[in-house]
Order: sequence, then structure tokens, then C-alpha cells
Amino acid sequence: MSQKVLLTGGAGFIGSHTYIELIKAGFDVVILDNFSNARPDVIDRLEVITASPVTCYKGDVLDGALLDQIFAEHKIDAAIHFAALKAVGESADIPLEYMNTNIAGLYSLLRAMDRAGTSALVFSSSATVYGQPDQLPVPENAPRSYTSPYGFTKLACEQSLEQVAASDSKWAFGILRYFNPAGAHDSALIGEDPSDIPNNLMPYIAKVATGELAELAVFGGDYDTPDGTGVRDYIHVMDLARGHVLSVKALLETGQCHTVNLGTGIGYSVLDMLHAYARAAEKPLPHRIAPRRLGDVASVYADPTQARDLLGFTAELGLDEMCASSWNWVSRRKNT
Ligand code: UD1
Repeated sequence: MSQKVLLTGGAGFIGSHTYIELIKAGFDVVILDNFSNARPDVIDRLEVITASPVTCYKGDVLDGALLDQIFAEHKIDAAIHFAALKAVGESADIPLEYMNTNIAGLYSLLRAMDRAGTSALVFSSSATVYGQPDQLPVPENAPRSYTSPYGFTKLACEQSLEQVAASDSKWAFGILRYFNPAGAHDSALIGEDPSDIPNNLMPYIAKVATGELAELAVFGGDYDTPDGTGVRDYIHVMDLARGHVLSVKALLETGQCHTVNLGTGIGYSVLDMLHAYARAAEKPLPHRIAPRRLGDVASVYADPTQARDLLGFTAELGLDEMCASSWNWVSRRKNT
């Protein structure tokens, strides 16, 4: 019988792409999502892509009774916990909301798993836990810190998982530190879909390419990098999705905890990204150099060796695939 995975936040950007990879790998999947940052038609689209019905509960991870119902109705072998708030700027305005959703949300899920006897969990963490790293590429044992309430919640969740794991060897946790997700599924049926003006680079460039935004403000042109603009480790969302499948498999096979970076190990600058996207969209994309954004660092990219050694994970898709698949998604979506 197939093993069953609960995806909290499974209708979101990374969750929905992971759903596809899990189904492809032979897992049964149950989605729980409150649709606060996902469109309801994502579920229909997942049904088209996978050519099979999707089991989805609409509700909140803080709802312990709903979690009990899901665990009673399904024999869940592992959970992947995507459901969280993720806007750095917003987290400074409403820190309590971030702490409640992100930290209390994790506790709610862990307690329900404990009641149900499920002990394998993959947790969505972020390179944000490295704060301002002083070592590049960043290894997993680099010092952790935070520069925003959002970063605080991710670090608090990681530390909570470490305490819980230390209390009882039954727990198996996979902590995945994402670098900068980009791209979309090849079908162009799902992808990143921010309703507001995006804070992150890739969705912003995408909206410049579709004409929804006039130009990209490049935050800083005088960093100590090859072209003066910020360097990051962009990873294709389908690679990221595959990383989750490998993490869940490792947890179920070994029962051992792991913490790994999910990145490519390659850094690209803001201008590299803009030029690659312009190639994919086959049009020039207007930009101007603007002041640095508070809290940004010059360069951050992953040391990917631990993910390779522990999970057998290596990113396979490059910059052109990220930009082409993103353009495919946003240009078709705009025309439908
Ligand atoms: C940001 C968050 C990080 C979070 C991650 C999620 C901050 C300080 N950090 O990372 O905590 O985990 O998103 O994906 O917000 N840029 C521009 N113009 C723009 C937008 C971005 O030049 O309009 C530049 C930035 O200065 C940076 C690069 O693009 O050099 C990437 O920015 P972004 O996509 O926001 O990601 P991070 O800052 O790396």
C-alpha cells in the first residue's frame, strides 16, 4: 500500500509543486490549506496535471479538531509543513500574527501528530536563518540568527524541532532550508501567483515582463559583487519539490533527522536574473538602479554538499529553465 503524506499549505507555490512530485513518486497525498494565499482553482489544476482526484481539506493548521479529523480519516505516515506566512516586511508590522501562524501552527501540527502516532515531519525553513552569513558558500553549521520577525519564527521552529527530537527518538524531522525559489511547472497551470506587488525578485521581474509593472528597481548597484548587484542562489521550484520527496523518503526509511540546504550552490546577480528573463520573454525589461534595501546582504549562496550526501539531492535545472518556465506560466495566465 502507498504511504500517505499530509501537506499543510499544499495549495501554495512550493506545496502545489511538491504535490505533483509526491504523486509521481507513488505517494498518496492529503492537502490541508486555508487558501489565505492560494487560489481555489489550484486544486482543479493539480487534478488535471496528475489526472487523478485531489483530497483537500479547507482549514487552518491551528484547528486541532480538524487535524484530529484528518488523522482519523487517513493513516498519515508523514507530514510536510508548508503552511506559514512569509513576507519579511509584513512580519515587522504584524509580528504576533507571524508567531501565531508560524510557531503556534507548527506546535498545533506536532501535537496532533503526537496524538495520532505520526512522527515524521518535513519542515519548510529558509536561508533566512543564516542572517548575514560571513562564510560563502553557506554550510548548514554556519551560525544562525535573524533580522526580522519572519526570520525569528523560522529559527524558533527549527530550535523547537531540535528540542522535541531530543526528547524522544521516535521523532524524525527533515529541516529544509530553501534558498531562492524560482520557476514554475512545465504545464504552465501552476506557479507563483502573488496578488499584491511582489517583494521578491523573480515574481517582480515576471510582472515587469507581462507589463503589469513598469520597471524593476534594482536594490543597490554598488555591492562588492561582480556587477555590483546582490547575488543569490535561485533554485527551480521543481528541484525544490524533488528535494521534499527525497527528504520524506529518507525520514521514512531511516527514522533519522536531517537539516539541509536546498540550493544549487551557484550565485546569480540581480542583473543576471533580469537578463536571463529578458532572453526567455524575448523583450528588453526596463530597470533602474535604486538604493539598497535595508537588511539585504551582498551575496548568499548555499553549500549544497550535505543535501547531496544525506539525501542524494542535486539541483538539475538551471537559470534558463527557471526563467522560461516562469515566463511560460505568467504569460499564459495573463491571456486566460
Ligand atoms: C527574501 C527574504 C528572505 C526570504 C526569501 C524568500 C529579505 C531581506 N529576505 O530573500 O528572508 O526567506 O526572500 O524567498 O527580504 N531585489 C531587487 N529588486 C526587487 C526585489 C529584490 O533588486 O524588487 C534584489 C534584492 O536586493 C536581492 C535579490 O534581488 O539582492 C533577491 O531578493 P529577494 O527575492 O527579495 O530574496 P532575498 O532577499 O534573498
